[in-house]
Amino acid sequence: MKPILLVTRRLPPAIEARAACDYDARLNADDTPVTGADILARAGGASAVLCCPAEKLDAATIGALPDSVRVIGTFSVGFDHIDMAATRARGIAVVNTPDVLSVATAECAMLLILAAARRAGEGERLVRSGTWSGWAPTQLLGTGVAGRRLGIFGMGRIGRELAAMARGFGMAVHYRDQARLPPELELGATYHDSDESFLPVCDVLSLHAPGGAGTRHWLNADRLARLPRGAIVANAARGTLIDDDALVAALRSGHVAAAGLDVYNDEPRVAAALLACEPIVLLPHLGSATVETRDAMGHRVLDGIDAVLRGGFAINLVA
Ligand code: DGY
Repeated sequence: MKPILLVTRRLPPAIEARAACDYDARLNADDTPVTGADILARAGGASAVLCCPAEKLDAATIGALPDSVRVIGTFSVGFDHIDMAATRARGIAVVNTPDVLSVATAECAMLLILAAARRAGEGERLVRSGTWSGWAPTQLLGTGVAGRRLGIFGMGRIGRELAAMARGFGMAVHYRDQARLPPELELGATYHDSDESFLPVCDVLSLHAPGGAGTRHWLNADRLARLPRGAIVANAARGTLIDDDALVAALRSGHVAAAGLDVYNDEPRVAAALLACEPIVLLPHLGSATVETRDAMGHRVLDGIDAVLRGGFAINLVA
């Protein structure tokens, strides 16, 4: 008998085919969004749950999972939607999708930076509105990124991919993290061990830290005030890193010139103040959304689930 794998959302065809071949896979053919209660209702007898970042696996949900569940695989690198203390208490392993989405997510961050700097959101809305009156010397003037200083908050795998792309655009890379990287990873970027030295050099600030309590609303009114006037803010990491009201206030005052966001505090709800703020480019959490990346994420998470159930070593074990 094959072990039961509960899959919470529709996955790319190759990944569902692999899951159905190796497991008694409970798929979600309609791709209906699920709650913790829905997961519990379908988890009877399951050895593994393959969930997504949109699902909050809180302590109550994890506490109520059947004893048969040995591993939770998340179709994401981030795991802030899973209560890790609760999984540890239940002895349930958690695996994720590191490495394979770093380039795609960094591309998305670069897209947000360029779109915000060059006012692409406003331009697109203008053309679609049917009111564009034609080329004009002073229309929708943005700013170039060449020669600007890019500050990366969180110089992990995604941050380093963004640094490589930004160098190609002629940007000088600065970064803030808990520790300095070795030279072969730093590649000439400037390390900052304090917000006080880091924030004033961020002509463009891109966030790449994990979500969770430790980074909640890290970009608040105080830190926004330390950015140079006219700075650009991009976030393709987790919405919880930003205090939305403080960002909107900084945009309204002109202290921050523009922002590009792919992630939000309370997804899929987007704060009304963000929707109403013209110089923000808004994407629907597309960071890893390429065909090849989503396939690679599916294989990585299934490799991890397979390894845990076999009693082997999972390279993507987070706890
Ligand atoms: C992740 O992997 O954590 C992303 O947010 C989903 O692409």
